[in-house]
Amino acid sequence: MRRILITGGAGFIGANFVHYWRRTYPADHVVVLDSLTYAGNLANLQEAQGQPNFRFIRGDIRDYELVRNLLIEERLDTIVHFAAESHVDRSILGPDAFVETNIVGTHTLLKAAKSAWLDRGPAGAPSPHRFHQVSTDEVFGSLSPVAPPFTEETPYAPNSPYAASKAAADHLVRAYHQTYGLEVTISNCSNNYGPYQFPEKLIPLVLVNILEGRPLPIYGDGRNIRDWLYVEDHCRGIDCILQQGRVGECYAIGGDNEKSNIEIVELVCRLVDEKMASSATLRPRFPRAPAASGRSAKELITYVKDRPGHDRRYAIDGRKIKQALGFTAAESFATGIVKTIDWYLANEIWWRQVMDGSYRQWIDSQYGPRAESAVVSPRG
Ligand code: NAD
Ligand code: TYD
Repeated sequence: MRRILITGGAGFIGANFVHYWRRTYPADHVVVLDSLTYAGNLANLQEAQGQPNFRFIRGDIRDYELVRNLLIEERLDTIVHFAAESHVDRSILGPDAFVETNIVGTHTLLKAAKSAWLDRGPAGAPSPHRFHQVSTDEVFGSLSPVAPPFTEETPYAPNSPYAASKAAADHLVRAYHQTYGLEVTISNCSNNYGPYQFPEKLIPLVLVNILEGRPLPIYGDGRNIRDWLYVEDHCRGIDCILQQGRVGECYAIGGDNEKSNIEIVELVCRLVDEKMASSATLRPRFPRAPAASGRSAKELITYVKDRPGHDRRYAIDGRKIKQALGFTAAESFATGIVKTIDWYLANEIWWRQVMDGSYRQWIDSQYGPRAESAVVSPRG
């Protein structure tokens, strides 16, 4: 039985991981640490709140004392570290928060883990322990259209402040293993999609913009390529690494599913058009969607100025995690994208609240506007 700290567990992948983990290992003790930035949402954890073996703490990963005390008091033996600033466009506009959370925050977690797990001697420390760093394929930089996909051996060449901050964090994780013997693993995953993704990332942004009849901004020529993985498959990949991965190793996780941005956007347009055409209840719910008046969502596609330093292509060679740990993605893109669209259609209140600021107001009314380290627990 594990006692696991999930940082960033109120965000997109973290929340999916919390649900996955609680379903798969119901006896495990799960603690979520999340500061609830704009991207963190307590509604994502509604199912888990108040349940036995689950605790939510609003706090910052840069708070060394908070993290160290948590590790010791809760006797935690595993950290799965999702907490991050995660949006490339925001990193271009304001890189400081990325340096603070992704680099300083990760280093603070590593220091706290070292202190709680290594420096207190065999009597105080859990054995084994694990620090799993959730990283991205963006640390490897950009591929040409014909280049072989990224592997675990690809040299780091990050291009955005986001990617650079994740790369720096990965190096610190590696260094804590090499220098101090902290038991770490790292995963470098491709683009995720699925439920609870904040509607600033391509797929949910396009989806809600179609429903609202707003333009669908395509950066540059729309031919940039990403490798898309359904979020639950990412969670399963991390699970495989925690169970069977070798300490000190990195694993690349991909979906074997390279698609250009324009392909993705046109597919989402077509699927939403078809759903609206066949559903008499959707048309009055979303009257501004082109399909509500018999038109195609594709008319909303708008080519805009390219993102600075926009990486052309990401692709993952997933042979290591497949051969060593038996992992392959279970969800096809064809089924995953339909599940995702259905989730957003069924959870209109969720995306409206995160977009119109009412969720933010509610959080501030519960915690005070900048109560970054307030602690909330069902146990009081
Ligand atoms: P997200 O932005 O949806 O969620 C991030 C979470 O971290 C939020 O809940 C936020 O409140 C929390 N957080 C931010 N700063 C914090 C701090 N200082 N202290 C405590 N909590 C803080 O991100 P995501 O898309 O779920 O990504 C999760 C992780 O997975 C990130 O590390 C990201 O780099 C990595 N990743 C993401 C993708 C993807 O496609 N989204 C792909 C590969 C890897
Ligand atoms: P995004 O979801 O931001 O993920 P990442 O930058 O981490 O890959 O973007 C995915 C791709 O979609 C990326 O090539 C940028 C592009 N994109 C657009 O063309 N328009 C948009 O409005 C957004 C958000 C992204």
